[in-house]
Amino acid sequence: MTDKTPSIHGEWSSRFAFILAATGSAVGLGNIWKFPYITGQNGGGAFVMVYLLCVAAIGIPIMIAEIMLGRRGRQSPINTMQTLAAEAQVDPRWGYLGWMGMIAGFLILAYYSVIAGWSMAYIFKAFFGSFFGTDGAEVKQMFDNLMASPIQQIFWHTVFMAITMQVVMRGIKGGLEKAVRFLMPALFVILIILVAYAMASGSYAQGIHFLFSPDFSKITADAVLTAMGHAFFTLSLGMGAIMVYGSYLPGHVSIAKTTFFIAGADTAVALLAGIAIFPLVFANNLEVAVGPGLIFQTLPLAFGHMSGGWLFGVLFFVLLFFAALTSSISLIEPAVAWLVENKNIDRQKACVWSGTACWGLGVAVVFSFNVWSGFKIFDKNLFELLDYLTANLMLPLGGLCIAVFAGWMMKQAHAEQELELPAQGFQAWQFLIKYVAPAAVFLVFLHVLGVL
Ligand code: TRP
Repeated sequence: MTDKTPSIHGEWSSRFAFILAATGSAVGLGNIWKFPYITGQNGGGAFVMVYLLCVAAIGIPIMIAEIMLGRRGRQSPINTMQTLAAEAQVDPRWGYLGWMGMIAGFLILAYYSVIAGWSMAYIFKAFFGSFFGTDGAEVKQMFDNLMASPIQQIFWHTVFMAITMQVVMRGIKGGLEKAVRFLMPALFVILIILVAYAMASGSYAQGIHFLFSPDFSKITADAVLTAMGHAFFTLSLGMGAIMVYGSYLPGHVSIAKTTFFIAGADTAVALLAGIAIFPLVFANNLEVAVGPGLIFQTLPLAFGHMSGGWLFGVLFFVLLFFAALTSSISLIEPAVAWLVENKNIDRQKACVWSGTACWGLGVAVVFSFNVWSGFKIFDKNLFELLDYLTANLMLPLGGLCIAVFAGWMMKQAHAEQELELPAQGFQAWQFLIKYVAPAAVFLVFLHVLGVL
């Protein structure tokens, strides 16, 4: 295998196309929905700092490694890892890493699609003017009503999953590249408008204080784990999504530069979302730790009171839907690529099978918000359990394996050849990937287990 071998699934038409798709995968519900609500649940500033540190010291080096492995292996993550293990003459069981990733992507998509469904439901609420002149209690009621209705949630979840599978069926180039090109900048603009509104809302200083002044006494072992897990989740790392996208990357594209761009854009979107939301939370005397409903209980207040709010409201939820779509595609792509390579079935069938199974699990997730909300394991409902298992455990574990493989198993001459970095840059990456990233993940795991 050399980096000039093209992938059987097609290739990105350019470096720019890859950047768009990978940024589309990274920027999603994780940035706009999840980051604010977990920041609220974990006390603010200190949590945000740990998260930013994890992105810089763990996320960026692992993203470079994951893209590199994908481009060198040129197949679905499972087959890529097997090929690369053979090339490095190490245990073929490294292929299991691909398996874990495929399963993680599948489990994430099951709940991701449900939340994306909420965003779709809110497009229509915005369109029909439901936000006009509302107060905190009314928007909360609106959200609670959606939560209480399995039918509505299943309807939107079904629509979202059907659209995702439709896009995945068309293959990697059709539509996806073009869509992200316009949608990302538009999302940026609307977030900036929301930030401007938040600045005028009166509680801006309080919101900024909450987000950026760290109070480390508030941080627990579990908060550190959540922050680290979120660094993986938001960058789409640790399960082969970025690996599979990397496998469609033409040779001789600078992986490091590309990574900096993606991580920068992703972080910027998350921080903007936080800066837009928390001032609203304080201005309206809302609770910071309400959980997954946070954006749905705050942003409608802004849209309901600002001038042009109807238009911005509709646009915002449409863009959130597209941001979710470009992410969900990457969650299922490893499974689809593997089915096509190994089970000898065509792309369409692979999509129908994997999509249907994922949809079924998503229906159970919907029930965890209402009829099964009392059903808990380890004090977590199904949604919380899936989220914890994937984001906090499977992704960091996958990332740890990727770091160990890239830093210790693979021939370093091969890594050098793929990355084409100046000597100092390569050494810095090597240090992070060999020592810092694996040690950090390991220590956080030990800390959570109470060993440390
Ligand atoms: N990064 C996306 C977000 O923040 C979610 C996502 C897409 C993802 N693909 C992934 C998370 C792969 C983990 C792994 O919304």
